[in-house]
Amino acid sequence: MARIAIYGAGGLGRDLIGPILRKLDPFEALIIVDQQKAGSEICGFPVHSLDALREGDSFVIAAGSGQDRQVMEQHCLERGAIPHSFFAPISCVGVGNEIGPGALFCDYSLIGAAARIGRQFQCNVYSYVSHDCVIGDYVTFAPKVSCNGHVHIEDYAYIGTGAVLRQGSPDKPLVIGRGATVGMGAVVTKDVAAGITVIGAPARPMQR
Ligand SMILES: CC(C)(COP(=O)(O)OP(=O)(O)OC[C@H]1O[C@@H](n2cnc3c(N)ncnc32)[C@H](O)[C@@H]1OP(=O)(O)O)[C@@H](O)C(=O)NCCC(=O)NCCS
Repeated sequence: MARIAIYGAGGLGRDLIGPILRKLDPFEALIIVDQQKAGSEICGFPVHSLDALREGDSFVIAAGSGQDRQVMEQHCLERGAIPHSFFAPISCVGVGNEIGPGALFCDYSLIGAAARIGRQFQCNVYSYVSHDCVIGDYVTFAPKVSCNGHVHIEDYAYIGTGAVLRQGSPDKPLVIGRGATVGMGAVVTKDVAAGITVIGAPARPMQR
């Protein structure tokens, strides 16, 4: 029997059990994997160590940090498991998109047309990616992110809950730099430099 593994038994892992069960076909089984929580139980499912992962299993990573997802992805690939792009039952995907391996589109998320998305993108509940966006590898959208058209987001960027990203244009996309963090509730009207954190409306670099 084919198996699909949720790797990560934290809050997101628990949130994903329902949507994944709703899409399982009769010849698939769900397992939960987590090194730290192995031996425990979540939502009635036993949590296994990584040793339970077998060659040919599909995996979905449940972790909010892009850097963590990269490390976890490596664990799975080393065991011959296959990244599974999961589109929750109430998510919606437009046409002409390129979506990298291991993407996660949670319920009520959506992607418009002609977007290009890298590896292990996480689009949490109620978030959207609009037309012509370019999104790098290991990028994270927390819940309810509004990412309008022609926005370019570089690798490892993290966009917090409820953030709004102003649209760019074909000749001048709005750019969120590599590893940048956009705080929850921020309204981003200008490019964000790599590695910095912005908050507020309009978004400004966070003073420490
Ligand atoms: C921006 C962010 C990364 C900063 O985290 P941090 O460095 O740990 O910052 P702190 O919590 O220490 O807060 C520092 C100050 O900034 C304020 N602050 C934090 N986040 C803020 C935000 N998004 N907007 C406005 N102010 C914010 C805090 O109230 C605090 O103010 P104070 O010094 O007057 O008390 C974080 O607050 C954030 O927004 N993370 C995203 C959370 C999210 O979306 N989670 C989804 C889980 S699925």
